[in-house]
Amino acid sequence: MVGDKRENNNSTIEVILLTNGFNHQSVPQSYIQPLEKRPTNPPPSLHSAKTTHQNTPIIDFRDGSNRADIIHQIFKAIEEFGFFQLINHGISAEMMDEVMSLGKEFFEMPFEERSKLYCDSMETPLRLISSVTYETEEFHYWRDSLRHACHPLDEFIHAWPLKPAKYREVVGPYCVKMRALASKLMELIAEGLGLKSHYFDDGDITRIQSMVINHYPLCPDPSLTLGLPKHRDANVITLLTQDVSGLQVLKDGEWMNVVPLPHAFVVLLGLQMQVISNDKLRSADHRVLTNSTTARTTITTQISCTMECTVGPAEELLDEINPAKYRPYKYQEFFESYLAVNLDTEEAMKHYKLQT
Ligand code: OGA
Ligand code: NI
Repeated sequence: MVGDKRENNNSTIEVILLTNGFNHQSVPQSYIQPLEKRPTNPPPSLHSAKTTHQNTPIIDFRDGSNRADIIHQIFKAIEEFGFFQLINHGISAEMMDEVMSLGKEFFEMPFEERSKLYCDSMETPLRLISSVTYETEEFHYWRDSLRHACHPLDEFIHAWPLKPAKYREVVGPYCVKMRALASKLMELIAEGLGLKSHYFDDGDITRIQSMVINHYPLCPDPSLTLGLPKHRDANVITLLTQDVSGLQVLKDGEWMNVVPLPHAFVVLLGLQMQVISNDKLRSADHRVLTNSTTARTTITTQISCTMECTVGPAEELLDEINPAKYRPYKYQEFFESYLAVNLDTEEAMKHYKLQT
């Protein structure tokens, strides 16, 4: 059951959180994935250029390219790869480095500082969790995660961590800039779909902005574990920074590494974007591998619908030739069914897909 765990005593939380101050000497049984889900599955084919990730799409916002060309590049990247990396996006390298350092510092603080924030209630604007759906999942994933609401900043910043000391001062302005960047991307996407530019700015579809800092500690045996299972993000759009490899995207049935590009954002579309676009855009399956030599921290900005929001294919995209592929639903209903099947996207989408 999902409940407020802040009442829990520290010894339980110590078991749940991976960043509990101890080094893991071996992988506990409950973190060992079944054979078919382990990192080597499916095995990379011989001569596969995909696993060597040479030509993954990079979109340059400073390029001087015209708007139509950038939109074309975005749609092509999503169609072929399901993601792209964004460079020269206007967020300074210095600011990104500071946020990444604070993220790392948070997970390096003494356990007692962090354990106070452990909470698995969805309602809380600031929470520290472990794995994905710790209470209900069959196998655990090698991740702790700090997450908090960001928008509007004035409403939430008071709930953010007090330590590291500079957290609010640095992450506040960063979140404001990230919202503007996400809006710019969504404007381009709206135009590419043939919707009005501000389609995604209007109200509840994109009102929720979350900062999610994922931390994947050293894992004694990466061949047995996953940092995150194969999933598609439930939200509208995700912007992620990483400085250590680990993220993989499924392309044409094979797992492809998304190589860290300094100061780039990996852009992934969420399932709500796929639904709104009536499958003109897709949300890519991705997962996270662990490693035994370098702890890995990723900083993500996630834009989501409010729980009360009704989501469905944009009316403007539908006609006799393009019937709706999904029924409209309340986002809360979707989100609950997504968690209930432990992020198994195909299973979750069954409830919303129409036979066309
Ligand atoms: C996520 C996610 C990938 C990563 O948070 O949904 O897919 O590399 N994260 O942390
Ligand atoms: Ni994800």
